[in-house]
Amino acid sequence: MGAGGLPAVHDTGSGDAVLFLHAFPLDASQWDHQVAALSGDVRCIRVDLWGCGDSPPPPGGDATLEEFARTVLATLDSLAVDRVSVVGLSMGGYLAFALWRLAPNRIRSLALCSTRAAADTDTVRAGRLAMVETVEREASVEAVVEPTIERVLGPEARVEAHIADPVRGRIRRCSPAGIAFAQRAMAARPDSTGLLASIDVPTLVIAGTQDAIIPAAEVRAMAGSISGARMVELQCGHLSNLEMPRAFNEVLGGFLVPAGTAS
Ligand code: MLT
Repeated sequence: MGAGGLPAVHDTGSGDAVLFLHAFPLDASQWDHQVAALSGDVRCIRVDLWGCGDSPPPPGGDATLEEFARTVLATLDSLAVDRVSVVGLSMGGYLAFALWRLAPNRIRSLALCSTRAAADTDTVRAGRLAMVETVEREASVEAVVEPTIERVLGPEARVEAHIADPVRGRIRRCSPAGIAFAQRAMAARPDSTGLLASIDVPTLVIAGTQDAIIPAAEVRAMAGSISGARMVELQCGHLSNLEMPRAFNEVLGGFLVPAGTAS
């Protein structure tokens, strides 16, 4: 598949379909713990962002998260999947908002994890463009590996090799073009705050109390704007599903697989 084509898809298990959308700058393997725990009960569909994991490179130019979201919908079509529960963490949450904007009728429920509805501030946007400049100049992602580990993992997870090293590996599997696309697309994403009141499907919101990128208080305020949303805080940093997989799985499993229906 050429640049900007359908994303690589990892399709595991059977049952109601759940679409997992990963954080930046990772890939679908971010969700391995969740797939291991849940694929006996639900069909876990994971995609890699353009330029990450096994996906084709981004199309170039000023491609947007919405354009990528359209390819995710086309992927679901190709799998004959009509409605899905969407689980998105951070950038995956930004993509979940893009999907809600494009095709709310295809979303059965939402799990919004360590993410925000607001668009970037000017400072955050400038930081993204500085990272783009670095990876393009060096034609390598190496310079962003350690600074990213510092940002995305909480203080305890950062020094746990079995958590931090696979995150390093995922970052290194992204191409400079993949990182540049994601950063430019996130910088250009629209504000989704006005969308929150339109969310009328069951919604779970998860935050990490030590998240250095998206403070738990902001995530809690977002949950408060979604009718009936369930809010859970875990004692960890930004990558809650990797830092506290058991607690995360318990909360997500309880939301996706109501008691009495688990296999
Ligand atoms: C992510 O974890 O997806 C990113 O840190 C999100 C962001 O940079 O806004």
